[in-house]
Amino acid sequence: MSKALVITGGRPLSGSVEIPSAKNSVLPLLAASVLCTQPVRLTRVPRLSDVMRCTAILEAIGFSARREGTDILVEPAALRSANLPTGPVSSMRASVLFLAPVLARMGRVETCMPGGCRLGPRPIDIHLDGLVHMGATVKWKADRLILEAPRGLHGIDYTLRFPSVGATETLLLAAACARGATVLRGAACEPEIRDLAEFLKACGASITGAGGPVICISGRRELGGAVFSPLPDRIVAATVACAVASAGGQATLRRCDPFAFSPVLAALQQAGCEVELRGAEEVCVARTGQLKGIGRVFTGVYPGFPTDAAPLLAAALLCAASESSIEDTVFENRFSCSAGFAAMGAEVEAAGHVLEIRPAKRLHGAHVRAGDLRGGAALALAALAAEGETEIAEAEHILRGYEDPARLLRDLGAKTAQKNETVS
Ligand code: EPZ
Repeated sequence: MSKALVITGGRPLSGSVEIPSAKNSVLPLLAASVLCTQPVRLTRVPRLSDVMRCTAILEAIGFSARREGTDILVEPAALRSANLPTGPVSSMRASVLFLAPVLARMGRVETCMPGGCRLGPRPIDIHLDGLVHMGATVKWKADRLILEAPRGLHGIDYTLRFPSVGATETLLLAAACARGATVLRGAACEPEIRDLAEFLKACGASITGAGGPVICISGRRELGGAVFSPLPDRIVAATVACAVASAGGQATLRRCDPFAFSPVLAALQQAGCEVELRGAEEVCVARTGQLKGIGRVFTGVYPGFPTDAAPLLAAALLCAASESSIEDTVFENRFSCSAGFAAMGAEVEAAGHVLEIRPAKRLHGAHVRAGDLRGGAALALAALAAEGETEIAEAEHILRGYEDPARLLRDLGAKTAQKNETVS
């Protein structure tokens, strides 16, 4: 059963929202719990379909993983299988994060290639190259990837050819229980990396430097467990800020870290939004008049402008008085939402990594289709500024990263609904 998100635009937003815990921290933390010999409790975990995919993987290999209110409780058990289940793995990129911990615990792991948002080729060569340097062997049997390390993994001094978020997380997880010391150079610096390291340290790991480009890990024989609250979702925060920029009005974002998405706030300020910091965990964003274009924005690895927010900023700039363009230096196919923008009357052109945005007189409702998580969210933001009703089909893409997008926007005064579509 497919789902659709229906939005009637033309109304300014007004309200206050609490930012949920970060999907891109919760997913690696659930993978990390495979290394734990004691229970793990993650608090304030949003109800996301990708979280359910991770708990399905944990259950398939022998762990007990269940929701208790807003918490997820993971209880270790004797791992009964090293085969990751094809269903959740083939539909979620983050499933790659289970390779290292299962390999470390069982000496073997078998899986299909991870799926997920179609943002480009998304190889896993850096993940695999690092694990091979740590003592793993890699082979393919038909479409199954098999990694083995019968003598366990050992520490390395390793330089990543690109600061891949997932590969940094894979090698951090592999090093946490490897024999000896590991140094990761050229590591990703995203806040979610630091959060994963803090969780592993709470479980007994020895890690320094996470959040910076050089991370040092001393392997431990085993890890215990922890109660841990993941950090706020900087991309959901960026989504709400761009929603205000698109629809007009104002919103207060509570329990967020404004500095974790400061490039997004800076771009919105440059376009003409008002941004008011209210302490370390709260920011108010407002837009009254028409925005202006802001020239070319380049995405980049952290602390640069986040690639995930590229389509969100684009949605906010569709009705600006002058031109903008956004170049995504991270993924090859970030702007699948450009067709939906155009269907609403936007003047956009997607060419490779770049989206060109020229002033649109006005946007009107349309029937559009979500192609990936953040592209689908961007269509919802554009719909807030469109006169009339927009229906976004295949909204299940959006539910991967937003617990209830219709309610999130409704809490801010938007007119929204979610409906089930019979799959034609
Ligand atoms: C993580 O994906 C996030 N997902 C993505 O968020 C985010 O867009 C991305 O980091 C960049 O910030 C999660 O954390 C679950 P990468 P990941 O490895 O780890 C290339 C969302 O919307 N690469 O940093 O897959 C790759 O092709 C999602 O929440 C290799 O070439 O991103 C890409 O061009 C979308 N070889 C670039 O690096 C590798 O082995 C960045 O990928 C790995 C990556």
